[in-house]
Amino acid sequence: MLTVSAPGKVILFGEHAVVYGEPALVGAIERRVRVRIRALNQKVVRIRSDATGGVKSFSFEELEQGEDALRYVKRAVSMAFEEAGEKAGIELWISSELPPASGLGSSAAVTVATLKAVLTLLHEDVSRKKLASLAHRVELEVQGSASPTDTAAATYGGVLMVHPGRGIERLGAGEGLPLVVGNTRKERSTKLLVAKVRRLRESMPEVVDPIIGSIGTLTREARRCLENGELERIGELMNINHGLLEALGVSTQELSHLVYVARSAGAEGAKLTGAGGGGCILALARRKHEQVLRALGRECQAMPAEVTFEGVLLEDAE
Ligand code: MEV
Repeated sequence: MLTVSAPGKVILFGEHAVVYGEPALVGAIERRVRVRIRALNQKVVRIRSDATGGVKSFSFEELEQGEDALRYVKRAVSMAFEEAGEKAGIELWISSELPPASGLGSSAAVTVATLKAVLTLLHEDVSRKKLASLAHRVELEVQGSASPTDTAAATYGGVLMVHPGRGIERLGAGEGLPLVVGNTRKERSTKLLVAKVRRLRESMPEVVDPIIGSIGTLTREARRCLENGELERIGELMNINHGLLEALGVSTQELSHLVYVARSAGAEGAKLTGAGGGGCILALARRKHEQVLRALGRECQAMPAEVTFEGVLLEDAE
């Protein structure tokens, strides 16, 4: 039996704009998805998941089919088989500390942890770079469109500056960032929200492209502030980023309400995080950390989000 875990993430800056080549600043958070794996004698892939409940078995061919809740796991298993050049009967148990479909990177974390678990079971030693790239391919195939942001955070941990098509920088900064997440508990589809922004951009590129460009500019400035510990200014940039995401049409009344609740309670800044349309907001709350947690807790599921520097991890092998 092997256990592999991978962390979720919060996008600090740059969601959606990163799909169009702008950078994103993302932090892995200490809430993890765990995948336990063991070999089976039958030629099936059996998946037990806390989130979907129960057990499902798939033939090797069935891994490529269906639009069900397990599609990231199934595609990650078949991609690991392709990479290893062999297939094996396996059983997977999946448990998660991350709410699903909430913008906290649960799909990326389960994809990375599953790939690593299957490849380790098949004695394939892959680098983190390779793992991140395989996981990104899984997300691309399942979602149709995806930046490497979430899969990079789940693989490497820490705070990353993602430059689409040009690589990923792991920053030394971000330890102890006083972050708070507010979860609307409204599940949403990243795929549909990315498609919504794409339609808006196609219908009026001259209006939308400058918004995307501004998000890129403020993300680069946020990185500088993060490295210099300028938290007040990071908060201001979060507020601007939220305004621009609203302009792209991915906020909701509830998300923006929570953003204002956090700001009114004393947060240095707040914005939606992830694809929007539901899911979570992220607040930077240094001076009034407890007040912000309490104020959000009255309106939604509120939790502190600690940046973790531990990416994908082989926790134990019996
Ligand atoms: C989703 O967490 C972030 C988006 O930018 C999509 C992506 O980067 O693939 C909305």
